[in-house]
Amino acid sequence: MAYWVYILRCADDTLYTGTAADVDRRAAVHNRGKGAKYTRSRLPVEVVYRESCPDKGAALRREYAIKRLRRRDKLALISYFQGKLGSMLKKAAFIGAGNMGGALIQAACQAIGPEQVVITDHSHTKAETLAQELGCTVAVDNRDALSQAEYVFLCVKPQVMEGVVKDLVPALASKPDTVLVTIAAGIQIATLRGWLSELPFSPTILRIMPNTPASIGMGMLALTGGPEVQEAHYQAVEAILAKAGRVERLTEAQIDAFSAVAGCGPAFVYPFIEALADGGVKVGLPRQQAMVYAAQMVLGSAALVLESGKHPGQLKDEVCSPGGSTIAGVAALEARAFRSAVIEAVEAAYRRTVELGKV
Ligand SMILES: NC(=O)c1ccc[n+]([C@@H]2O[C@H](COP(=O)([O-])OP(=O)(O)OC[C@H]3O[C@@H](n4cnc5c(N)ncnc54)[C@H](OP(=O)(O)O)[C@@H]3O)[C@@H](O)[C@H]2O)c1
Repeated sequence: MAYWVYILRCADDTLYTGTAADVDRRAAVHNRGKGAKYTRSRLPVEVVYRESCPDKGAALRREYAIKRLRRRDKLALISYFQGKLGSMLKKAAFIGAGNMGGALIQAACQAIGPEQVVITDHSHTKAETLAQELGCTVAVDNRDALSQAEYVFLCVKPQVMEGVVKDLVPALASKPDTVLVTIAAGIQIATLRGWLSELPFSPTILRIMPNTPASIGMGMLALTGGPEVQEAHYQAVEAILAKAGRVERLTEAQIDAFSAVAGCGPAFVYPFIEALADGGVKVGLPRQQAMVYAAQMVLGSAALVLESGKHPGQLKDEVCSPGGSTIAGVAALEARAFRSAVIEAVEAAYRRTVELGKV
């Protein structure tokens, strides 16, 4: 899993270098008023430099090297990075402005600016309404959207994808540098390529698997690409999706397993939150409060796993005092094979994803 080295610029112009699995989250935690958590200052910070490393050890070594640079050299590194980012910012088109497409369009407008985003949808009114809200542009049709952008996100349902993709062939033929990015569950890059076999060249295709928390910038997204995909393509897609949540590069063979955990996972967590609230109501809490307490607790617990890097089992042990109430609750869950049920849910979702991909 990639780990990041970052530089934060504080409002008083001080620079702070650090490492994190999720740089934006770290800056957000600082700016949410935790102050001085990751810097020695309570002033707001912005991320001015980020560099991915293969693992935490490599990130720490790189951090050590950056920390030793003189301020002048750090500023040069930052301006090189920002110049590179500027050249990575490409125009993005989104075909399909439904639930997931809409969430990604919103994130893209935040990340690269609405003037860089063009959208289209079967329902022109839906696209117009969203565009007015976000300030992006609506294309006349899908081919027009493609003609206006370097990166084209295909956000329609899997069952209509073949028709949508084949209809783009003439537009693609006259714009071979176009990069296609599919978000459809279960459709392999090779399948998409097959639908485009009439083209006299092999198009550049990436595939992402988002999840619904992307709609509030807290998604977990997987990104994969064919052998023709270059580092610059990955980085451009990562820049467009930067505000949708955390993006991890995976091999395509891992996408179905990822999807079973992160794509289907929200539907496993919501009943858990609902059941926690039911329990709260049963022991006397008002429904609305019980729901908020349960949801905030799940949010905080998940953040602690990511921020602390501790094994969830260790964090569980830290909450359970001998003979206490928490271990009594844990034992009740174990008696109903809680963990086994969750493992089976992921396996079932995985099997079904693989089955659907073969249809
Ligand atoms: N929702 C999720 O949690 C999730 C997670 C991961 C991946 N995905 C993937 O995201 C994709 C979209 O799913 P969704 O849930 O966002 O579906 P959705 O809400 O139905 O959105 C699809 C949109 O595409 C429009 N559309 C249909 N045919 C079109 C065409 N020929 N040209 C332009 N637009 C067209 C639809 O318009 P009409 O409604 O008028 O037909 C609709 O607005 C799917 O491939 C899915 O596998 C979704």
